[in-house]
Amino acid sequence: MKGVILAGGLGTRLSPLTKITNKHLLPIYDKPMIFYPIRTLVNAGIEEILLVTGGNNAGDFLRLLGNGKEFGLRELQYAYQEREGGIAEALALAEHFAEGGKIAVMLGDNIVERNIVRAVEAYRRQEAGAKILLKEVENPRDYGVAEISGDRIVGIEEKPLHPKSAYAVIGIYLYDGRVFDIVKNLTPSARGELEITDVNNAYIRMGAMTYDVLDGWWADAGSSIEGLMKVNILVYETGANRMD
Ligand code: DAU
Repeated sequence: MKGVILAGGLGTRLSPLTKITNKHLLPIYDKPMIFYPIRTLVNAGIEEILLVTGGNNAGDFLRLLGNGKEFGLRELQYAYQEREGGIAEALALAEHFAEGGKIAVMLGDNIVERNIVRAVEAYRRQEAGAKILLKEVENPRDYGVAEISGDRIVGIEEKPLHPKSAYAVIGIYLYDGRVFDIVKNLTPSARGELEITDVNNAYIRMGAMTYDVLDGWWADAGSSIEGLMKVNILVYETGANRMD
């Protein structure tokens, strides 16, 4: 399975830190933010990654990451998103890289304490469809939120005012080759973006979505300065991407 990391966007919620650099290059404890999602995918057995970025600092990723050998990657490719058209628009740039196969997609600002090995292994065995990861959070209104019935997800709402559960949809998505046709049929949301939540709801409507609940803490390091500071402390205290 190949991996895709989405690291475009303007990072305006972290301004002025993001005025002269891309959000995903900011430090999280002792490493640049982008190191963490790469390590998460590598730890799950992924050897080829496409990094999608955008804006004015795209060249800095190449200087920082090169060909990905430092992570043990067989291949690290790059794609450039020309405008901030949303997470699903950034994902569309991975169509040729994916070659019709299954992909593990991770948002460049997501950090996990442990690993996603169990979910990825289960998805390798899943014949088709998609799988997402959920985590119980105190502030579900800030995220995509899953409505769960028994062992099924029946819908996801993006940043709802009245969340139907406390389970956030974290930024790690496992998709089959149909994802690119789904993206082509999306229309922009009220904020003018192609939403990953609409992609996930399409899989749910097809009856082709499974989920797992992540072990250990999960952080979205990009949503506020306070959040960014807290993740630094978490990583310092417990480490990240642990395999134990
Ligand atoms: O972190 C999990 C949450 O991520 C999910 O619960 C939400 O359902 C999902 O929509 C997303 O919400 P955010 O508001 O946190 O998304 P954000 O705009 O911060 O984008 C997340 C990452 O996606 C960011 O690290 C860079 C990448 N991105 C984003 C946009 C808008 C791109 O590569 N291109 C883009 O155009």
